[in-house]
Amino acid sequence: MTKILVIGANGSVGRHVVASLVEGGHEVRALVRNAATSALPAGVEAVEGDLSAPESLAAALHGGVAGVYLMWPGIPVQPRVVELIAEHAERVVYLSTDVPDLADDEPAAIFHQEIERLIRRSGLAWTFVRAIDFAGNALGWADQVRAGVVRWPYGRARRSLVHERDIAEVAVRALTEDGHDGGKYLVTGPESLAHAELVRIIGEELGTEVRWEELAPETARKELTAAWGNAAFVESRLRAWESFTREPERVTDTVERVLGRPPRSFRSWAREHTADFR
Ligand SMILES: NC(=O)c1ccc[n+]([C@@H]2O[C@H](COP(=O)([O-])OP(=O)(O)OC[C@H]3O[C@@H](n4cnc5c(N)ncnc54)[C@H](OP(=O)(O)O)[C@@H]3O)[C@@H](O)[C@H]2O)c1
Repeated sequence: MTKILVIGANGSVGRHVVASLVEGGHEVRALVRNAATSALPAGVEAVEGDLSAPESLAAALHGGVAGVYLMWPGIPVQPRVVELIAEHAERVVYLSTDVPDLADDEPAAIFHQEIERLIRRSGLAWTFVRAIDFAGNALGWADQVRAGVVRWPYGRARRSLVHERDIAEVAVRALTEDGHDGGKYLVTGPESLAHAELVRIIGEELGTEVRWEELAPETARKELTAAWGNAAFVESRLRAWESFTREPERVTDTVERVLGRPPRSFRSWAREHTADFR
């Protein structure tokens, strides 16, 4: 049994990392900003700390933490956090995204590359769990699903969305088994399904008809920029979705290789989340 620190323990992946570690009989410590408002499983030790104030992690890292699950929220990168983890733990598993490797002197296009580089240089044993978009992103359609029509661009964009629990279980293997050091695991769902099919599946699991309405990219650009407040992010998403109309998003065998079973389907995710769409 080894003590694992889970950073982002209330997050959409982190909560499954915690649950899966507990099921496996591991000792779990959870980093949270507010222990009083965190609903963690029995037996999990909650320790408060904030990634934007690296020295506040001292309490969470002291006392024999062997491995750390690290995710990074939308705040400026703090290199000291990686240094502190390296001072106290042996192994880190980082929740990253589908990014190319960076050369040492290459500027990072996205913060995940910067953190991966800090980790590679840290002396820690590491595994990068590079996840394709989470199935949970479909919750962004919930209001429109309730209204019976999803208006969105690129209905034919074929996506390989991944169930958050699969990402977490891959991370847990990397934290608790040997043989994953230096792994850059691209984790995807089992198949690529068009945006319009994802919406149809959600409707089927709800037992209601949900219509797809194709939104022109220029309309989507305006509406999503207003909603998300980040024009560059909207642009990169639109570009990616357009490309998935021509070539489907990749499907990898990572889940099968690491966990010895196929990835969970999008339909199973939708079935588990019907209450969120009602
Ligand atoms: N969505 C996608 O499709 C996708 C795909 C690939 C990768 N990713 C990456 O996944 C990561 C998000 O993971 P997630 O979805 O599991 O998390 P999440 O659901 O977004 O939850 C945010 C977590 O971050 C913690 N947090 C926020 N600010 C913090 C701070 N200053 N100090 C300490 N903890 C803080 C929160 O802790 P509290 O409980 O204390 O609030 C919470 O546990 C991001 O890096 C994102 O880029 C996302």
